[in-house]
Amino acid sequence: MCGIIGYIGKQEAFPVLISGLKRMEYRGYDSFGFCIHDNENGTTTFKKVGKISAADQVLGDMKVSGNMGHAHTRWATHGGVTEANAHPHLDCKGSISVVHNGIVENYKELKKELEAEGHTFISQTDTEVLAHLIEKFFDGNLEQAVKKAVGRVRGTYGIVVLSKDDPNKIVAARSGSPLLIGIGEDEYLVASDPAAVVANTKKVVYLNEGEIATLTPDNYSIYTEREPQEIDWNVEDVEMGKYPHFMLKEIMEQPESLRNSLRGRLVPDEGKAKLGGLMPIEERLRDIERIYVIACGTARYAALTAEYMLEEYAGITAKVDAASEFRYRKSTIDRNCAMLAISQSGETADTLAAIREAKSKGVLTIGVTNAVESSQARETDAGVYNHAGPEIGVASTKAFTSQLAVLALLSLYLGRQRQLSLVMGQRIANELIRIPDLVQKALECEPQVRELAAKYKDCGNMLFMGRKYNYPTAMEGALKMKELSYIHAEGLASGELKHGPLALVEDGFPVVAICPSDSVYEKNVSNIMELKARRARILAVATEGNEDIAGIADEVIYIPKTLEMLTPIVAVVPLQLLAYHVALARGCDIDKPRNLAKSVTVE
Ligand code: G6P
Repeated sequence: MCGIIGYIGKQEAFPVLISGLKRMEYRGYDSFGFCIHDNENGTTTFKKVGKISAADQVLGDMKVSGNMGHAHTRWATHGGVTEANAHPHLDCKGSISVVHNGIVENYKELKKELEAEGHTFISQTDTEVLAHLIEKFFDGNLEQAVKKAVGRVRGTYGIVVLSKDDPNKIVAARSGSPLLIGIGEDEYLVASDPAAVVANTKKVVYLNEGEIATLTPDNYSIYTEREPQEIDWNVEDVEMGKYPHFMLKEIMEQPESLRNSLRGRLVPDEGKAKLGGLMPIEERLRDIERIYVIACGTARYAALTAEYMLEEYAGITAKVDAASEFRYRKSTIDRNCAMLAISQSGETADTLAAIREAKSKGVLTIGVTNAVESSQARETDAGVYNHAGPEIGVASTKAFTSQLAVLALLSLYLGRQRQLSLVMGQRIANELIRIPDLVQKALECEPQVRELAAKYKDCGNMLFMGRKYNYPTAMEGALKMKELSYIHAEGLASGELKHGPLALVEDGFPVVAICPSDSVYEKNVSNIMELKARRARILAVATEGNEDIAGIADEVIYIPKTLEMLTPIVAVVPLQLLAYHVALARGCDIDKPRNLAKSVTVE
């Protein structure tokens, strides 16, 4: 949610900042801006409403020189989408320039205080308060002024600050919003996301909560010294390559991302999963009686699938809550429980808040995240990384299937600590090994789905339905459809159809029925018949070899057979492709759906 980057070094800052911003644009894309400082020519500040990816012509015509600067791509919170509200924000003298990711919760009282002291504000943002607050404390040393200013702030921030009056230096500070320093050859970068720096360097230091860092052309310093780490992916991973959209690239990458998520984590002969990140809490996990799973968005649908997996195979009672709800309920969570947090980015504010709430009650917290060194990875007691590679498309795809695979591993791990038999453990392990190939097979439906999309593109509403493991798959299919194509879609438990939603159904009403050949297939078919009786149009997602369904449904997409608990991993593939192709046919902006952002770092 908002991308920020700063650069100081020997190169021209402009191209580095612009390409960094482009690679971070999925964090927010309603406006962008930058400030570049040149010792001879002074400072250039530029802001523009709209996506940076659509501004190539304007940017191409610009000549901006200078070896230090910062830039921002915005997802609006406080204040509408206007040039005045775009970052950077300046102090009264136009000397101090701030880019910010987060929310200053006490901005109103700070603004009142600063206005009374004579500061003039020109935007409606909370961020502008930071520029004036730093101005208030500035006496020639930018670090000291930033330190004093952030001491007055309630809320979250990742900020990158420049000042003409303390030149040749960038000051960055973090609390609640991620920031990392990229250490290059004769250059330093700071950004909210590794994607922004990976073209320049893979050596990074992640700032800890509350830390302030200073970057100069020759060095960087943070309060606490520590060893840099290596980013374990390449710049190609955050570029589209041969694909027209990141989403399609990420859908197609799923066999590989699943292989990476599973690599080295299965011991098929012993029917076990080996999860190094859980080793420190292995014994504590044996005593856990219940698991609270919390997550947001797509990750919550992975959590709902895990609820079935954990209960059926690990024999542990699991309860799923939207992270945004968990912290406001009087929970019965206690020290016999564990909290399992699932988040692709590891930076979702609601998920982090729920983790903190559980920790404050002494509850063991476990994380599943795709982002190494993310806030979630740092704050949970133990966890499992997805290793799915960076996901750039706002709508989550490969992270979701990776989450499902990791949750299956976790269920196997916990199950084998309890009653799960060797034989069943071996079956799950062996089937997980096949999953990347099965997903590869499922992807073969793409040409068929592309054709179907042409038929569904003008729908006003759609229903998605499934039972048991594929009830969450139905919700995920509906979410993908609404976030990408803006078609209103709902995901239902098939059995719930007759308790209300059936009233919507009339001649030709589109329903996507996820009905693999599993323990609830017959029940699903009964629900499809109820829909057909009301002349709904059924698109079935069914298991290869099931010829009967072709006689019932209007259209069928076949997926390969697998264990029931793993069917969501293959069944979601055609749903991802359907949402993609319907959105494409409707001319929607696939990688940047309106009003959304990839990483939601505000509550
Ligand atoms: C946003 C994204 C979703 C994502 C959700 C949770 O809403 O658009 O794709 O599922 O956040 O994100 P997380 O990083 O916590 O998995």
